[in-house]
Amino acid sequence: ELRDHAPRPVTYDTPSLGLTTRPRRNRKSEWARRLVRENVLTTDDLIWPLFVIDGDNQRAAIASMPGVERLSVDQAVRDAERAMKLDIPCIALFPYTDPSLRDEMGTEACNANNLVCQSVRAIKKEFPDLGVLCDVALDPFTSHGHDGLIQGGKILNDETVAVLVQQALVQAEAGCDIIAPSDMMDGRVGAIREALDDAGFLDVQIMAYAAKYASAFYGPFRDAIGSAKTLTGDKRTYQMDSANSDEALREVELDLAEGADMVMVKPGMPYLDIVRRVKDTFAVPTFAYQVSGEYAMIMAAANNGWIDGDRAIMESLLGFKRAGADGVLTYFAPHAAERIKASR
Ligand code: PBG
Repeated sequence: ELRDHAPRPVTYDTPSLGLTTRPRRNRKSEWARRLVRENVLTTDDLIWPLFVIDGDNQRAAIASMPGVERLSVDQAVRDAERAMKLDIPCIALFPYTDPSLRDEMGTEACNANNLVCQSVRAIKKEFPDLGVLCDVALDPFTSHGHDGLIQGGKILNDETVAVLVQQALVQAEAGCDIIAPSDMMDGRVGAIREALDDAGFLDVQIMAYAAKYASAFYGPFRDAIGSAKTLTGDKRTYQMDSANSDEALREVELDLAEGADMVMVKPGMPYLDIVRRVKDTFAVPTFAYQVSGEYAMIMAAANNGWIDGDRAIMESLLGFKRAGADGVLTYFAPHAAERIKASR
């Protein structure tokens, strides 16, 4: 509430504005603001990304993502439990693969007993009602840090798709609910859909990273999965140019035609215009990924006392809803869910 100040002598004339409409009337108090509120963030809107690492009873900090940890499988199960308690419908899993298991071909991606598959099995066994999403891309598994196979300095599209299909199959076999190809190869959604159907995984959903931009905001994620130091060159021949917007619609259109059930725009905050265009154009379930760099940015400012972290987090997440997103992948998911529950 505002404090009253001692009235000072008025030295100017109050204008007679003759206003019929005063937008401020609808903002006069909290109940009035609640009444006209257009968008609301609920726990149903959240997907929580988790990083998994080999070992037992491990929770290892990630310097560029304060508050986020790499979790051994048993600890990932504990965070899955936390997600259940907080009514977060779905988690997403990303592995930190031991460097000794990385190779040129990303062979470990298709190992039915890799970290991701182990985690999915352990989590689904204890919490069958929690949604589990798995990324499909080779970068956590390749020695060069790229999402695809390389020959002669070029990413091989079609050969990569063949590997991604196998990766998707071992994940589905492990019990993954949503396959999320984040590699940006052409034609991978259709190939994965066909293979899933042939193998009888008719109910496994596909959330396509449809409009994924070549972004500077993935830096902390690459620290988290240990690909930052090994990545040679950049991902601009497959991830989208940040200058483009029409191209995002074309990518979404293709992924939907190939069988995507849901689409994603990534990163989030700098691409809210894309979220809005995709939602307005296709009217399909549309998600945004508030990526690692966005998380790091907010945390850095908040930890310096430069912004009010709690408020900035909730405001940023509400922005996704306002832009038309049906949900948000965000490292703030548990924090936001706690705030949402406390405010009820
Ligand atoms: C891998 C992948 C990336 C992210 C999700 N899946 C990084 C990349 O494409 O280099 C980024 C997520 C984040 O920054 O939080 N294909």
